Amino acid sequence: MRVLSGTTPSGANLHLGNYFGALRQYVALQEKYESPLFFIADFHSMNSVRAAQERRSYTMNVALDYLAGGVDPDRAILFRQSDVPEVCELGWMLSTVTPMGMLERGHAYKDKVAQGQSADHGLFAYPVLMAADILLYNADLVPVGQDQKQHLEMCRDMAQRFNQTYECEVLRLPEPYILDGVAVVPGTDGRKMSKSYDNTIPMFAGNKQIKKAVMGIVTDSTPVEEPKDTNANVFKLWELFAEGEADREAMFARARAGGLGWGDLKKDLLGRINAYFGEMRERREKFEKRPDEVEDILAEGARKARAIATPVLEAARQAVGVGKP
Ligand code: ADP
Ligand code: TRP
Repeated sequence: MRVLSGTTPSGANLHLGNYFGALRQYVALQEKYESPLFFIADFHSMNSVRAAQERRSYTMNVALDYLAGGVDPDRAILFRQSDVPEVCELGWMLSTVTPMGMLERGHAYKDKVAQGQSADHGLFAYPVLMAADILLYNADLVPVGQDQKQHLEMCRDMAQRFNQTYECEVLRLPEPYILDGVAVVPGTDGRKMSKSYDNTIPMFAGNKQIKKAVMGIVTDSTPVEEPKDTNANVFKLWELFAEGEADREAMFARARAGGLGWGDLKKDLLGRINAYFGEMRERREKFEKRPDEVEDILAEGARKARAIATPVLEAARQAVGVGKP
């Protein structure tokens, strides 16, 4: 089983929702599957990020987030998409068997254009490059959020069309692995935590910023001495950090008994967040000071990724009849 996933470097700072909803799940996959591939989709970012220096720094940020969050370069293959530019060649091949109508039905394209992003060909053809990302590495399982499901269906469709057109079985059809069993992490205002809502608790920010976010979690005005609603938003966040059932029950009992103020609960939550992410923050700072080491990790990742990609691309070249027979 080969697992693969990618992240577009967009400059966003990771928040608790991204961690519990995505990053932590990715990291868990390296325990379960051999050598999962995680790549930083810098080619994809060209549709939205238009400055070279920004792209470089965003790309480095994703690498740091992954490494700090627990991606282990001895287990997983972490690489930069553009370090294996063969993906563009496979993308071209796929584009020749992709009907316009398929791409015209793309939700992401329609949404982004509706939001004012310019309707460039790269944005339109994004699903083709994404399919190449997956098919070039013979991926079986692709863990992604619900919003990427359509792109995976298109990928399967393109692979099938390619194999049919050239009467071969060169491209392997991947299965989506939708991370929707994961509970939605609420934001400080009770809606889904999201960078678009300005309700996030950042994962790698400084103490002050995290404290400000936690203390700003919206609560009702139940007086301190009265029982508290354990379904409140702040409890949902707190529960992410509970250490087992007994720990959870003890806090819930205090809430039901009255006398636990929302401020106390928030302070407790803050302490737990800092303890939980402290080591990861340190790890991030360490890597941040050693960009050469991060580059070495990415280079080694690219070498391993290319070793997987080369035979697949060569088989595709033979199937379509380009290059030296
Ligand atoms: P945002 O909503 O902040 O824009 P993204 O759409 O960039 O976040 O999401 C990146 C990943 O993090 C996706 O896999 C998504 O499912 C996950 N994720 C984002 N917000 C949450 C949340 N509040 N709860 C659980 N998972 C989330
Ligand atoms: N489109 C994905 C996103 O925006 C990122 C991505 C690019 C990806 N190529 C991929 C994800 C291949 C999984 C597999 O989140």
